[in-house]
Amino acid sequence: MEILKCITIKKQIKDKILVEDISFSIDKGDVIGLIGPNGAGKTTIIKLILGLMRLSYGEVKINGYDIKKDFVKAIEKVGAIVENPDLYMYLSGYDNLQITANYYKDISKERINEVIKIIGLEEKINDKVSTYSLGMKQRLAIGEAIINNPELLILDEPTNGLDIEGIVEMRNLIKDLSEQGIAILISSHNLTEIDNLCNRIIAIKNGKIITNDSIENFKSESNIVSYELILNSLENIEKIILNYKYEILKDNTIKVYISKENVSGLMQLLIQNNYQIYSVQESKMSSEEAFFKKVGDNKND
Ligand SMILES: Nc1ncnc2c1ncn2[C@@H]1O[C@H](COP(=O)(O)OP(=O)(O)O)[C@@H](O)[C@H]1O
Ligand SMILES: [Mg+2]
Repeated sequence: MEILKCITIKKQIKDKILVEDISFSIDKGDVIGLIGPNGAGKTTIIKLILGLMRLSYGEVKINGYDIKKDFVKAIEKVGAIVENPDLYMYLSGYDNLQITANYYKDISKERINEVIKIIGLEEKINDKVSTYSLGMKQRLAIGEAIINNPELLILDEPTNGLDIEGIVEMRNLIKDLSEQGIAILISSHNLTEIDNLCNRIIAIKNGKIITNDSIENFKSESNIVSYELILNSLENIEKIILNYKYEILKDNTIKVYISKENVSGLMQLLIQNNYQIYSVQESKMSSEEAFFKKVGDNKND
């Protein structure tokens, strides 16, 4: 069942197009990773979905309700954290949850206790939020976002700034929530922090979708191998291998991004052109490297 549908959404402020032609949908059970470098447009997309920014063009439908025409109905079953969570630092975690619960009708004490358990803050819930670690604050914010039993949870860079331990806790929490059937849209500029959580990846660059694919396809597609070659000389090498993607590392060392099948072709080409190959070494890229190879930084490639 489709929970969220974005249809060719666009945001323009004056002459600047922040995001454009963004179409995708989220089904029940999905955990979608919205991935892209800083400034790519992730927060903008999230704000447009949540009605926190006005659409310049396109439509957002949540549970079939149009965010513009039926805002209250559309947003009813959505929980979200955008940019930095808003918490009352001098109140306890419990009081923060209680205040959020008061926004809604009929949130029981039992539900609050259940949420405390889900976010793993049982022991600290009566401490002031100002004493919490960043990871604990993030988990409390997620607690607020899920208190009303949302069907869709939107998290804008929830792992940002967390240490390894915090990231692992956040991942476990998101996994638990997804197993309970909540559809999740989670943004990050760092694929490795969230890749094993997501079943789909939507990669954003300069305000546009460049990939929308299953995590398996995304990874295998990015699975370009690179080879480091040491040659007797790199003289005129740029003319010989102009069809390959490569970097010159140092004096006689070059790194070429190719798949396995193309290695012998490259060797032949080099030999035909009288280069001597001293060494060939495969270096598999980490998923981080592969991600940046594919998504790159904004603007420049
Ligand atoms: N209110 C605004 N007015 C003008 N430009 C903005 C505004 N908000 C964001 N931007 C620009 O839009 C682009 C996308 O920003 P953002 O959605 O925050 O990216 P991300 O969340 O992926 O880092 C950036 O170039 C940013 O500077
Ligand atoms: Mg952002």
